[in-house]
Amino acid sequence: MQRTIFVTTALPYANGELHIGHIMEYIQADIWVRSMRMSKHTVYFIGADDAHGAPIMLKAEKEGITPEELVKRYTTNRQQYFKGFYISFDHWDTTLSKENKDLSCKFYKELKKQGLIYSKFIDQFYDPMKDMFLSDRYIRGTCPECNANDQYGDSCEKCGSVYSPMDLINPYSSLTGEKPIIKSSEHFFFKLSDPKCVNFLETWVHGKNRHGQLHLQEEVSSKIKEWLNIVDNKILIKDWDISRDAPYFGIEIPDTKDKFFYVWLDAPIGYLSSFKIYCEKNNINFDEIIKPDSNIEQIHFIGKDITYFHALFWPAMTNFAMYKVPDRLNVHGFITINNEKMSKSRGTGLSPLKYLNIGMNPEWLRYYLATKLNGTIADIDFNKKDFINRINSDLVGKFANLASRSSKFINEYFQGILYYDDNTKLSLQNEIINFIEKIKLLFENHNYSKSLREIMSFNDSANKDFDKAKPWLIAKEINFNQFLKNQLHLTCSIALAKFRAISIALSPVLPNISANIAKNVFGNKNEFIWQDAHILPYKINHFKHLINRIDEKIMEKLFDSNDTSDQKNHNDVNIINNNYITIEDVAKIDMRVAKIIDCHEIINSEKMLSFTLDIGQNKYITVFSGIKNSYDPESLIGKFTIVIVNLQPRKMRFGISEGMILAASDSNDKNDKIYLLEPHNGAYAGMKIK
Ligand code: MSP
Ligand code: ZN
Repeated sequence: MQRTIFVTTALPYANGELHIGHIMEYIQADIWVRSMRMSKHTVYFIGADDAHGAPIMLKAEKEGITPEELVKRYTTNRQQYFKGFYISFDHWDTTLSKENKDLSCKFYKELKKQGLIYSKFIDQFYDPMKDMFLSDRYIRGTCPECNANDQYGDSCEKCGSVYSPMDLINPYSSLTGEKPIIKSSEHFFFKLSDPKCVNFLETWVHGKNRHGQLHLQEEVSSKIKEWLNIVDNKILIKDWDISRDAPYFGIEIPDTKDKFFYVWLDAPIGYLSSFKIYCEKNNINFDEIIKPDSNIEQIHFIGKDITYFHALFWPAMTNFAMYKVPDRLNVHGFITINNEKMSKSRGTGLSPLKYLNIGMNPEWLRYYLATKLNGTIADIDFNKKDFINRINSDLVGKFANLASRSSKFINEYFQGILYYDDNTKLSLQNEIINFIEKIKLLFENHNYSKSLREIMSFNDSANKDFDKAKPWLIAKEINFNQFLKNQLHLTCSIALAKFRAISIALSPVLPNISANIAKNVFGNKNEFIWQDAHILPYKINHFKHLINRIDEKIMEKLFDSNDTSDQKNHNDVNIINNNYITIEDVAKIDMRVAKIIDCHEIINSEKMLSFTLDIGQNKYITVFSGIKNSYDPESLIGKFTIVIVNLQPRKMRFGISEGMILAASDSNDKNDKIYLLEPHNGAYAGMKIK
């Protein structure tokens, strides 16, 4: 039976580059998508950027650009990740689209018609300086339970207790440091507590889709049970606050003033609007395909942190807005790097762009992650050593090795032609079909790790059979013995037939390598599909090596924080997006050529040197500069350099610094070496830099 499947991954916030957690999610989804496409099902693989919300608004404000410009900077950069890691999205969009706005309003109006929207006034913290209501994440204060300072508005990192921001002792706004006031405002709510919603959710959470699959992994539905209050066998679910007050970056709520949809309302609708844009481009009737009773299957891949939104809010929204309800959520855990939580500041993360830019093979990462993904919500660790071992032992030592050993004889003695006797043909054919059936199901059921274990054990046994037959010994005798010649031919042909089966099996995980094998080794016109397992190969072409070993050095480079191979791209992007300053901005800085009249160390300071600078017209200033590690003070006396003379004077422990000397440094240099700027010969003190 041919299926039509609409697959999405969570929409990443458009205020940063993609990180390895995102890439892991896309690879997980892509493997599934490819395995379904290999069954000739129709799959629409759709993604988008999540563009709304307060953090994006505030970040743009800080950079002096519009939120739209900020979003554009990141969203235009996504394709290089997808190309780089062979992630086969059919379409990528953003929630800024008109389609998303229209659809969000349509959802809202329909929910309202259903009597599921109401409004009421609620008290909230308000930053009087910023003129803005503060969500929990922008309120900090002292924990009411353990008195720990500087805790978030909703929970304490020290003692783990959860509370309302109103309970914080000495709350302050993390945006301005101001003490927030309490202000009342009208908010709009989605009435999830309505009996018809509760009934629907109870059924959906434990229910199955039309393919007999549970909507949720069992561990996920039991988590949800824990979250909800259950009284008399009935769940109690709180109504959901879906509005935010201006200033907010989002979609305005129809027929209201200064009220916006909370980002989590329009974000999942982004799945549909992105799909809609794709459909319109491809002459597919979106309204028809997404009707509640449509045959399409709607499948979402998400991380465990956003389960609540997807397992409760989203099914309720779609159901009561008369849209297709999700058929399945696939929830995954988090990735850690060498057992540490990802952290940009501590540099423990694995940068996907750097991975690509230093020339690491994207299929190594796909394979490695696949060996760990088993369809549960357990976290996954990326471990350097383990990574190298897995690739070198499985893909090079087992997989590529099977092909290179057997093809050598086939090319040398049999002109690339394969041969099976009648007995072997049938049993080999069956063995391969059974193997592929099993693998296909394991991918379909999201157990990639088991699938790859089965593939490798099939590969092991193929290698063993090959070894047992000792073809390298037979090869020495074949000139005199037709029987031995047949035996050699058969042994190598079986090995290559199995190698081809393994290549088919690995196709969802290694799309590029297997496409290369399909075309260049076996002469297929197209990439492999599962059905290809039903025919045995009869010929091979000469081919070069299939996959490289990983060198430990490149792994060191990947985790070397002094190596900034990922940053080049980022800078390019900034410039593309007009992060320019104007000539007026430059003119504000008064830079002069200065002659160093005196330079000496400062007692009790590890870093600073004290300078007396001649800045022309008999003016002399004192400047302290932190370059002691790089220069011997006496060697500088008499030299020229560049100084900013209109910087606000700064009081320091040892006196007042009246300017700033310009110097170059690399923030990634472990030794903090600093290089003073020096004008070419002929410049004299007081000259203006412009
Ligand atoms: N914008 C929301 C999702 C809206 S969906 C309608 C969001 N964005 S996110 O950028 O924070 O996360 C996007 C996805 O990445 C989520 O599925 C999240 O679970 C996943 N991951 C973020 N960090 C992760 C890891 N360290 N490991 C694996 N996945 C993680 O949430
Ligand atoms: Zn506490």
